[in-house]
Amino acid sequence: MTDDQVKSDVEQVLHYHEQTKHHFHQPARSLGYMDWSTQPDPFRFYKGCPLIRLPLLATDPKVAHGGLFLRGSLPARAFILENIAGMIELSLGLSAWKTIPGSTWSLRMNPSSGNLHPTESYWILPGGQGYPGGVYHYSPFLHSLELRAELADTVAQIWREHFGTCGFLVAVSSIFWREAWKYGERAFRYCHHDVGHALAALRFAANLMGWSVHLLHGISDRDLDRMLGIDRTDWVAGERDEADLLCWVCPGTEQPNLAELPDGLIEVFDRVTFQGRPETLSGERHPWPIIDTVAQACRKNRPETGMAAWREDPPTILPGSPWSAAQLIRRRRSAVAFDRRSSRMSREHFYGCLQACLPRRDQAPFDAGLGEARVHLFIFVHQVDDMQPGLYALVRNPDHLDDVQKSTWSQFLWNRLDDALPLYLLETGDRRDEARVISCNQEIAGDGVFSLGMVARYRDSLENCPHRYKHLFWETGMIGQVLYLQAEAYGLRGTGIGCFFDDPMHDACGFRDNRYQDLYHFTVGYPIEDERLTTKPAYYHLEKLQQGL
Ligand SMILES: Cc1cc2nc3c(=O)[nH]c(=O)nc-3n(C[C@H](O)[C@H](O)[C@H](O)COP(=O)(O)O)c2cc1C
Repeated sequence: MTDDQVKSDVEQVLHYHEQTKHHFHQPARSLGYMDWSTQPDPFRFYKGCPLIRLPLLATDPKVAHGGLFLRGSLPARAFILENIAGMIELSLGLSAWKTIPGSTWSLRMNPSSGNLHPTESYWILPGGQGYPGGVYHYSPFLHSLELRAELADTVAQIWREHFGTCGFLVAVSSIFWREAWKYGERAFRYCHHDVGHALAALRFAANLMGWSVHLLHGISDRDLDRMLGIDRTDWVAGERDEADLLCWVCPGTEQPNLAELPDGLIEVFDRVTFQGRPETLSGERHPWPIIDTVAQACRKNRPETGMAAWREDPPTILPGSPWSAAQLIRRRRSAVAFDRRSSRMSREHFYGCLQACLPRRDQAPFDAGLGEARVHLFIFVHQVDDMQPGLYALVRNPDHLDDVQKSTWSQFLWNRLDDALPLYLLETGDRRDEARVISCNQEIAGDGVFSLGMVARYRDSLENCPHRYKHLFWETGMIGQVLYLQAEAYGLRGTGIGCFFDDPMHDACGFRDNRYQDLYHFTVGYPIEDERLTTKPAYYHLEKLQQGL
C-alpha cells in the first residue's frame, strides 16, 4: 500500500462524510420512502450448518449495577458452553417481542438504528462437552450457534499459548444493506455506531462472567476475512458480511499478550472447510455505491501496532442503582417520547452518567482497548437539579482540552465544575428548542433531562489511518451504550440519535472546519410508554416452534 493510496483513501472517507451530512435544506441521500417489498430479514441463517441450541440463563448473575463496569471484580467462570451462552444472551440476544395490532417485532439487548440490526457475530470456540471447536455464527432468533467450520483442538491450544491465558475469540461484522435499505448513503455511519454498541454490550456481559474483552488490533481486515471464511462464502450479491473486529475474551484478572498475531495462527483457517450458504435477506437490493467505496477505503490493510493505551486513572465508584447489572441489561430500551415535567435528574446521578463515559483503567467498556479517547461530549442540560440549564462540555481526553477550547466559540466560559470530573459550563440558557432542531426536530432531544452531541477529533485522527473513521463511530456507540444503561440505572431512559444536522451542531459549538466533527447524538429523560404495545418474552417463540405451533 503506497502513501498515495492511503492519501486517496483518506480523501474518500472525508468525501463520504461530507456527502452524508444532513443539512436543513437537504437530508443525506436515501430513497426517501420505505420500500416494504425489499425489507431485509433482520436475522441471518446459514443453510446446511449443524446447529447447537444454547441454554438460556436459569438465573442471572447476582451482580450489582457497579459490576457492569468494574473489571475483575468477580471470579472468572469456566469457559464452558453454558457460560459462553450466558455472555451471548446478555449481549446480543433477544430481549423481548413487541406487538401492536397488525405488527410484531423483536428487540435485542443491543440497540440498533431503526431496529434494523446490521451487526452479526461469530464465535471461535475451543471444543467442549459434546460440541466441536470451530467458527460459529450466532443466530439471535434461535439463540443457537451455527457451525460454519470445525477446528482441531490444536488450534485453540496455539491461540491460548499466544495470549498466555485461556479464553476464546469473538468477531463482529456488518451487513450494510440492512441499514441502507432505510437510510441510504448515511447507513455506513449507523452500522458502525451499532458495532460500538455491540462491542460495549459484549464487554459488559463479559464482566458478569468474570471475563474481559480485548480488541485485537494486530490483525488486518483481510486476515479477519480468512478467519471467518468471509473470503470463501457464496454470498448473495450485495448482502455480504463485512468483518469489523476481533476480540479475545479471557479471565478479567489476567492480561493477555496483545502483540501482533503471528501468521501461523491465521493460516490454519485457510485449511478448514466453511460450510453453509447464507439465506437471502431481501428479494432485491438498491445499490448505494458510495457505501462500497467508503467501506473499501476504510479497510485496515495492515495490522495496527503501538496503540496508545487508555488513561491510567483508576476505576471510579458510581452512584448505585436499585436494579442489578443483568436487570439493567434486560430493561434497556429506547424511549420514543419523554414527559418534560418528570424528566429531571439529581446532579449526583448526572455526574454518575458522565463518570461512566470516561476511559479508565480496568473499567468497562473502554478497557476493551480502542486506543486513545478522541470523542468529547457537548451537552445541552435541560433539567438537572442544582445545575443551570445551558451548554456544557465533557472533555474525555485532557490532552485535547487546550485545542478544543481554542476551536470553539471564544465567549465560552469554560468553568470547571468539579475536581473529579472534566465537565465545563460553556454557556447558560434554555437550549431545549435548539437541541430539538439540531436532532432533526425530534422532540426527545428537547424534552428530556439532557441531550448531547459526541464530537470527535476528526481530521487528525484519520491522517494515514482511514480505517480509524470506523473506530470513531465505535467509540461513540460505546459511549451510547454506557448512557443507555446509566439512564436505566437511575430510573430514566435513553435513546441514541443518529439523525441530526451536522453543521448546525458545529455552529452551536463554534467548530469552523473539519478538525472536529459531530458524529452521534444521545438523549436521556423520563419515558412516556406507548400504551398500545404489548410485550412478550424474548424466547417465547422457540417454545411455540418446539410445540410445532
Ligand atoms: C445508532 C443509533 C441511532 C439511532 N437513532 C435514532 C433516532 O435518530 N431517533 C430515534 O427515535 N431513535 C433512534 N435510535 C433508537 C433505535 O430506533 C432503537 O435502538 C431501536 O428501535 C431498537 O429499540 P431498543 O433500543 O428499544 O432495543 C437509534 C439507535 C441507534 C443504536
